[in-house]
Parts: sequence; structure tokens; C-alpha cells
Amino acid sequence: MGKIRFWVWLCLMSGASLSFAQGSPSAGKEKAETCGGCHGVDGNSSAPIFPKLASQHAAYLGKQLHDFKSQKRADPTMSALAEPLTDADIADLSAYYAQQKITVEQGAPNPLGKKIYLTGNLDTGVPACTGCHGPDGNGNPQALFPQFNGQYAAYLEKTLKDFKTGARGNDPNGMMRAIAARLSEEEISAVADYISSLK
Ligand code: HEC
Ligand code: HEC
Repeated sequence: MGKIRFWVWLCLMSGASLSFAQGSPSAGKEKAETCGGCHGVDGNSSAPIFPKLASQHAAYLGKQLHDFKSQKRADPTMSALAEPLTDADIADLSAYYAQQKITVEQGAPNPLGKKIYLTGNLDTGVPACTGCHGPDGNGNPQALFPQFNGQYAAYLEKTLKDFKTGARGNDPNGMMRAIAARLSEEEISAVADYISSLK
């Protein structure tokens, strides 16, 4: 498949969007007490292996929590924590974190990461990340394309490697798995670096 056709195919496959109930940020703040130890009180996590949740779209956060709960996204810790959450808890927690402000990492310029992000890799059929995640990494809430500017590079790298091996398999129609499979380890590390310093 050519690069353009692959990209168009991915965009068509991503049409499936899910809708979840509106949550209450103030109720979510109280419910987030157990999450703060790892993800930080305001969703800016204490260590780079814990993803920042601040500023993330509520719909994407809700999808991830439902996916951890059903073990569609495999992570023993997060699945155990999501297991007792009701639909209302998930909506409230997601609404709370979506309202917090992310603190952006200060990365050094990464030319290879920038190239992959903005233009993909023609030789290996990697589509440009900007096509779905946007030039600033703000994503698209309706399409459930996550925001990730300012996210820790270590987490981005881990989750991209998990998509590549299939250890993370909760992406609709395997679209991120198909992309990550075409990225080399060097490209993964470079693009993770670039994304983490996007403002
Ligand atoms: C013991 C540490 C820990 C606690 C406590 C914890 N998490 Fe997590 N969380 C993680 C880790 C580690 C990941 C990344 C899992 C992976 O690599 O796939 C994660 C991932 C997530 C994600 C996915 C983020 C993304 O960008 O895809 C969400 C959403 C989330 N956690 C929400 C919560 C909520 C809500 C709570 C409280 C109910 C919570 N977490 C408590 C460690 C924790
Ligand atoms: C066709 C649309 C599309 C393109 C192109 C795309 N992505 Fe994604 N990406 C997604 C979707 C959808 C998800 C959310 C999957 C899910 O629901 O768990 C995602 C998730 C991610 C995540 C996980 C974020 C988190 O918080 O866990 C990372 C990292 C990521 N993409 C990086 C990239 C990179 C790097 C590229 C370019 C090489 C790229 N994406 C290109 C659609 C796309």
C-alpha cells in the first residue's frame, strides 16, 4: 500500500467514535485521591513512567479507563484500579483531569523526531503523526485522537513500543499498531522526544 493510500485508509478506519456521559470535575477531584500518588494531584505525574493526565481530552481518558477495566488495554496495575470504577466515576475523573493544565517538558531540538512527526517516513510508509494528532499535538477529541504535547518522553516511548509489539492493543482497528510496526526503535525514541517538548 502506498503512503497516501495507507493514510487515507487509517483516517477512514478511525471513524468509529464512542460517546461517554459528561462528568463532574469537582466530584472527580475527590475521586482522584487514589490516583494522585502516581499521576500527581493535578494530573502532572511524579515520575516519567506514569503518564500525565492533565489537559487530556475527557473522551480519550474515559475510553482508556473503560479499556483498562475490560482489560482490552493490558496493564495489571491500572486494570486493578479501574475494576471498581462505575461509569459515573470514570466520567467524573475524566472531566477533572481534562480541566487541569499540563506542564510541558523542556526537550532539546530533535530533527529526526520533527521530520517523522510532520512528514512521516515515505520509504517505510509511516504516515505523518500531525495528520491525526495535529501540528501542536492537541489531537482531536471527537475522533478520540489523544493530545500528547508535553507528555513524558519515557512514557511515549514505552507505549509506542507496546503498540509495536502488540502488548498495547486497544487502538481502534489497530491503527496505532500498524503505524508503530513501521517505526524503527530509533524513530520511536526520536519522535517521543519531539512530542514531549511540543507546546
Ligand atoms: C500505582 C501507580 C498508579 C496509580 C495509583 C494509578 N495509575 Fe493510572 N497509570 C499508571 C501507569 C503505570 C500507567 C501506564 C500504563 C501503560 O504503560 O500502559 C497508567 C495509565 C493511566 C491512563 C492512560 C493514560 C494515557 O495517556 O493513555 C489513565 C487514563 C489512568 N492511568 C488513570 C488513572 C486513574 C483515574 C487513577 C485513579 C483511579 C490511576 N490512573 C491510578 C499508574 C498508576
Ligand atoms: C490515523 C490517525 C493516527 C495517526 C496518523 C497517528 N496516530 Fe497516534 N493515535 C491515534 C489514536 C486513535 C490513538 C488512541 C488509541 C487508543 O484509543 O488507545 C493514538 C494514540 C497514540 C499514542 C498514545 C498516547 C497516550 O497517551 O497513551 C501515541 C504515543 C501516538 N499515538 C503516537 C503517534 C505517532 C508518533 C504517530 C506518527 C508516527 C501517530 N501517533 C500517528 C491515531 C493516529
